[in-house]
Amino acid sequence: MIKKICCIGAGYVGGPTCSVIALKCPDICVTVVDKSRDRIAQWNSDKLPIYEPGLDEVVSQCRGKNLFFSTDIETAIQEADLIFISVNTPTKTFGNGKGRAADLKYVESAARMIAEIATNDKIVVEKSTVPVRAAESIMNILRANNKPGVSYQILSNPEFLAEGTAVQDLLCADRILIGGEDTLEGQAAIEELCRVYEHWIPRENIITTNTWSSELSKLAANAFLAQRISSINALSAICEKTGADVSEVARAVGLDSRIGSKFLQASVGFGGSCFQKDLLNLVYLCECLKLPEVGRYWQGVIDMNEYQKSRFSAQVISSLFNTVTDKHISLLGFAFKKNTGDTRESPAIHVAQTLLDEGAILHIYDPKVEEAQIMEDLSPLGLSDLKTRINIYHDAYTATRNTHAIVVCTEWDEFMELDYKKIFSEMTKPAYIFDGRKILDHDNLQRIGFNVQTIGKKLTRAAISRVWGSQTQV
Ligand code: NAI
Repeated sequence: MIKKICCIGAGYVGGPTCSVIALKCPDICVTVVDKSRDRIAQWNSDKLPIYEPGLDEVVSQCRGKNLFFSTDIETAIQEADLIFISVNTPTKTFGNGKGRAADLKYVESAARMIAEIATNDKIVVEKSTVPVRAAESIMNILRANNKPGVSYQILSNPEFLAEGTAVQDLLCADRILIGGEDTLEGQAAIEELCRVYEHWIPRENIITTNTWSSELSKLAANAFLAQRISSINALSAICEKTGADVSEVARAVGLDSRIGSKFLQASVGFGGSCFQKDLLNLVYLCECLKLPEVGRYWQGVIDMNEYQKSRFSAQVISSLFNTVTDKHISLLGFAFKKNTGDTRESPAIHVAQTLLDEGAILHIYDPKVEEAQIMEDLSPLGLSDLKTRINIYHDAYTATRNTHAIVVCTEWDEFMELDYKKIFSEMTKPAYIFDGRKILDHDNLQRIGFNVQTIGKKLTRAAISRVWGSQTQV
């Protein structure tokens, strides 16, 4: 019976997942540990290190009762019956597999810590997203350093939560996936983890598989989701050239119950820490398995996303008379999606970098992203005058004042409710809006006087002749 859980990694996955486990399992003591003192201090403060709707409430209900955040990794591992590994698994930036393979150094270091510290049996659960057969590496490390009388079971239990809806996703998970060894001990360990989830997830929604199926299913799920976005984005380019409207196409296609309507929203492109990383991981796996055709198929999903981001940024520049040098442009939204402060792989970074490269002066507003994060994300550009070319604001009205154009990069609800008449009156004319998320009322904006451009919808006559005109000048 699991009485104590330790989670290594207090990030976007470890923090919310364990908070919800603590909420739903009052009989289990959950300790989330991290090597980052700052992160743990934030988890123990009133301002949590990540923004997720509903998370503050869950944490404040459990923290100090059966939920603890700590840097004392050793004690937490020592005392736990079950250990989640929820550390980051970024794309490798050097060496073999650079730019594609997952870097498992954090997973490996977590496994080595467990091997060093544990003095009794442990169930070790791989929650991080890993390449297929990573559990084997963890097992090798643990068993090679085995102390007498200590045995390990390794399970794969990938996390399917989405940032921005993490708490809701955890409370009402579509499914829980647990993979383990097909041995008596392996099945017993699976059963123990099932019992934890059964505190709130119906048994029929907990599926068990072999370890490799579980690991591959996580990569497959993210690949499918990303592929739907790239598919609709590919169609959006056709729509812009033909007069079809991608929203109408998405609706018509999505009403087919075999296809379904979710994840068919065309946009500036997908972002986040997972989709690209996991696709690259899958492509690399295909290469290692000598399946180049399969690898190329999934690589196409990433390529289409890059194309969409570039296409959108290029559209902004060409519409602004082919030059944005010294033009003031406001970016509404910097997070990779609404209801999160996470900017990892955010399309806004791509758009901002392209505009800065072309000499623009940016006015950026995001409801949840800190100024320091924006500066850090844009600093790789290496511009000496970066500080003078980026202005960060705390509301949309001051961010858009005296600018030539607005570029909507994140679909925050509050952007739909802004007083665009007021905004228009304070902008430099002609005033442009580029809606990279398709959330605004375009007819209304045009009535106000804006030049409006969006994704997957044929431009107005005036706008078309402007783009064509500027293209012929090139
Ligand atoms: P994150 O970067 O937010 O958090 C990882 C944490 O692990 C960091 O705070 C880091 O300091 C800590 N850490 C790394 N090595 C450590 C060690 N040896 N000892 C103690 N702490 C250590 O990462 P995030 O976003 O939580 O992702 C974790 C895993 O979950 C990744 O594999 C990711 O692919 C996967 N995942 C992420 C989702 C998301 O929406 N962010 C959704 C589903 C899966």
